[in-house]
Amino acid sequence: MGEKLRVTQKIRVGTGDFVELDNVSVYFQIRKGLLKRIFVVRALENINIAIGEHSVLVIVGESGCGKSTLGRVVAGLQPPSHGRLLFRGKDVRSLKGREYREFRRSIQLVHQDPYSSLNPTKTVFDILYSPLKYWGYVKNKDEALEKILELLESVKVTPPEEYIFRYPHQLSGGEKQRIALARALSVKPRFIVADEVISAIDVSLRIDLMNLMIDFWRKYGIGYLFITHELASARYFAELTGGIIAVMYLGRVVEAAPPRKLIFNPLHPYTKALIAATPELLMDLSELRKKKPLPLKSVDIPSATKYIPGCKFNTRCPFADRRCLDEEPMLREVEPGHYVACHKVL
Ligand SMILES: Nc1ncnc2c1ncn2[C@@H]1O[C@H](COP(=O)(O)OP(=O)(O)OP(=O)(O)O)[C@@H](O)[C@H]1O
Ligand SMILES: [Mg+2]
Repeated sequence: MGEKLRVTQKIRVGTGDFVELDNVSVYFQIRKGLLKRIFVVRALENINIAIGEHSVLVIVGESGCGKSTLGRVVAGLQPPSHGRLLFRGKDVRSLKGREYREFRRSIQLVHQDPYSSLNPTKTVFDILYSPLKYWGYVKNKDEALEKILELLESVKVTPPEEYIFRYPHQLSGGEKQRIALARALSVKPRFIVADEVISAIDVSLRIDLMNLMIDFWRKYGIGYLFITHELASARYFAELTGGIIAVMYLGRVVEAAPPRKLIFNPLHPYTKALIAATPELLMDLSELRKKKPLPLKSVDIPSATKYIPGCKFNTRCPFADRRCLDEEPMLREVEPGHYVACHKVL
């Protein structure tokens, strides 16, 4: 019974209806094993999120939980198997002509891996010229030069004259990621999906890149879906932008709240385990001493193709009882702005 009745409450991030996921699920069919049998991966299941203009949603979760799939849905690159993606209140599938172009321009994706997202045969100039030309911001290369120098300046790749005719292999990881960010910014988006943009760069440079992105939020009102697997970065980004953190587990959002609430008053056992596994930098030492590590039953995330009845976390949860094995808990708002999907939370 419970398996069929799926009503997860909508997570509201900011106000307004800039972009909205209405009960979105994404399933992939894959072939596995010697017999190449077909399995279904439920990458996302019943995701309900409404994000307002100039708002920030940070997604955190372990590898394979569906973070990139969610980012691709929001950017319009992955059609939902079920449910709808809405842009300013309209189903994206119904958008035509100018409205569809406006959607594609307004939401830009910056990838995890700057090594593969920048074409190695093109110079920085050409990489930034293509979108400017495509979206009609410039007519020709002469006109583009000044704009590209300005863009490089804005992402702090300076002096710009020194970088503009370089190829990606002549840039450091951090510089490549800034060029990828400049490419996204070149079309004047309202919202950026930043998929693990800090993972591939040196730890010492991560804060700088996050600060730069936060500057764009402050100065130009750009909203973000900021994806990371580290709770410490999630907290940093969300706290400085007044954002919400959503914790994902096997294709579901299991908890969502503003950063301080989530970290100092976590409700879901999985969030508690993530916090316990995050080193000291996350919180004051006195706070940390009060927390006892949660003994999980298993450290392994179940295979994405394995069907788990009931709560998807029941194979690892130390509190799982009969109900958790039978019935999947739905995400619900337990206090204003704090959402959790757990039967044990009253
Ligand atoms: N195109 C695809 N075809 C088949 N399976 C896919 C496809 N894309 C993603 N998946 C599967 O969907 C699940 C979610 O993948 P996704 O890339 O969204 O996770 P993620 O949280 O971004 O992981 P990571 O932290 O490793 O980047 C995984 O089990 C993955 O193997
Ligand atoms: Mg990913």
